[in-house]
Amino acid sequence: MKTCQLMLSLLALPALAIGVEPETVPRAAGIESAGYVWNEMEGEKLLALQAKGDVSRGAVAFEVCQGCHRNGGTGRVDGSYPRLAGQHASVLVKQMTDIRAGRRDNRKMEPFSSEHVLGPQEIADIAAYLQAQPVTPDNGQGPGKDQGRAGKLYQRDCADCHGTQGEGDAAAFYPRLSGQHYRYLRREALLIRDGGRRNSNPDMVKSVRNYSDRDLEIVSDYASRLPLP
Ligand code: HEC
Ligand code: HEC
Repeated sequence: MKTCQLMLSLLALPALAIGVEPETVPRAAGIESAGYVWNEMEGEKLLALQAKGDVSRGAVAFEVCQGCHRNGGTGRVDGSYPRLAGQHASVLVKQMTDIRAGRRDNRKMEPFSSEHVLGPQEIADIAAYLQAQPVTPDNGQGPGKDQGRAGKLYQRDCADCHGTQGEGDAAAFYPRLSGQHYRYLRREALLIRDGGRRNSNPDMVKSVRNYSDRDLEIVSDYASRLPLP
């Protein structure tokens, strides 16, 4: 045991010598750990959900986020930055607090989501503001292949949670998919299937476990084309 520890500390030395920064990003246990509880109601998440969000304060607080997520949270058509406009406030609170807790990894968003956002009230404000922004039909869509098959798969395996029109379910924390950029949907669907989004819903993971990359692509494309309310 002691030899083993010694070897580990020796192994760590070269990393320090070449100036690799120590791990400062928080990391909470996620779906990879035994006893994972999805969407546990505690701490900052619970406080932010209990707080009443203020749309105009949220607009000001969101300014620091716009460099990536664009004005009004429309995101980017290439899917590099998701659309946040029109997403359910509950979903936004869940994702923001999971990212801050280190349960959903998002190195790009550090330190914006940690240092620039002060606490539960500001999270609630930003979520209220974003939910109130219109979802517009100018989102990025896929190549439109095999949409007949995609529609059958979507309505069979996804609609129970994400809604027949991709509208999601605010009370259940299921995200709206309609109006979202195709490339972002595709990336997240693959990540969720492969365990890379550690705050995932285990039932969703089950429902996409046997999906090929190709089927996740066409079904994400289908979702990106669903009509907006
Ligand atoms: C440096 C770029 C950058 C900045 C600044 C940034 N974000 Fe993000 N954000 C991202 C990226 C990239 C993702 C998607 C990560 C992924 O693919 O999983 C994301 C994802 C999100 C999500 C999850 C969306 C979903 O559909 O699940 C929320 C919510 C979010 N950001 C809110 C914010 C807020 C609020 C701020 C400002 C306080 C902010 N972001 C600032 C890059 C950024
Ligand atoms: C049991 C309910 C459930 C089912 C069934 C389900 N999902 Fe999900 N999905 C979720 C939840 C909940 C999230 C949010 C991730 C989280 O934090 O848990 C999500 C997230 C996503 C995301 C990322 C959205 C975003 O804004 O970041 C995509 C894409 C997605 N699901 C696609 C699908 C597709 C395609 C299917 C069907 C093949 C499907 N889901 C089936 C519950 C479900």
